Amino acid sequence: MSFDRNLKIAPSILAADFANFGAEIEAVEAEGADWIHVDVMDGHFVPNLTFGPATCAAIRPHIKTVMDVHLMIAPVDPYIQAFADAGADVITAHFEAGPHIHRTLQAIRGAGCKAGLALNPGTSVEVVQPLLDMVDLVCLMTVNPGFGGQKFIASQVTQVARLRQMIGDRPIHIEIDGGVDPVTAPLVRAAGADVLVAGSAVFKGGSVADPAPYGANMRAIRAAC
Ligand code: DX5
Ligand code: ZN
Repeated sequence: MSFDRNLKIAPSILAADFANFGAEIEAVEAEGADWIHVDVMDGHFVPNLTFGPATCAAIRPHIKTVMDVHLMIAPVDPYIQAFADAGADVITAHFEAGPHIHRTLQAIRGAGCKAGLALNPGTSVEVVQPLLDMVDLVCLMTVNPGFGGQKFIASQVTQVARLRQMIGDRPIHIEIDGGVDPVTAPLVRAAGADVLVAGSAVFKGGSVADPAPYGANMRAIRAAC
């Protein structure tokens, strides 16, 4: 995985057909996805359940780009090795998921993955400062995590700009997750984000049988930026 700040669209398979992940991933990559975003929820840290490492391992052979695993689970540490073994390129854990985020980030890198740090909308980006040497990606949530299709929280845009300033020349991705569409994407892109997660805005209107809307939806986001 090489580093750059070019715009990358990471469709979230939370908005794909759960009975058909492999084909959905292949379709959305063929239509131009840069990364594949995989939302793991535990019904405890967030009020929703999705899937775990076995599903991640099953979909891994269908991903040609980057497998970006967003863990909305607590505790995190006992499961890091399982997600690394499942083939994650990036493992992102939440700052709010436990008392020892520094140890968690160390463990993610120790397992051979890029380390991501996710912040809920109620958490200040100032908490990233002591962790700058520990992270390869910071994910700013622009919705409260747990569900797709929620409304973008616009007050997060100033936090994106503050984070971009804090990061300086360091090779750290800024990822935005939640409510990204052609209207909101340019706001966070201008503030310094490079990875845009989008679920509903990418998968709407299309299917494995008719994947062209996936491409059109991603082009609309890129064009707006
Ligand atoms: C929310 C997830 C997101 C979600 C985004 O908890 O982390 O990745 O799927 O969905 P949209 O793009 O529909 O807001
Ligand atoms: Zn996510």
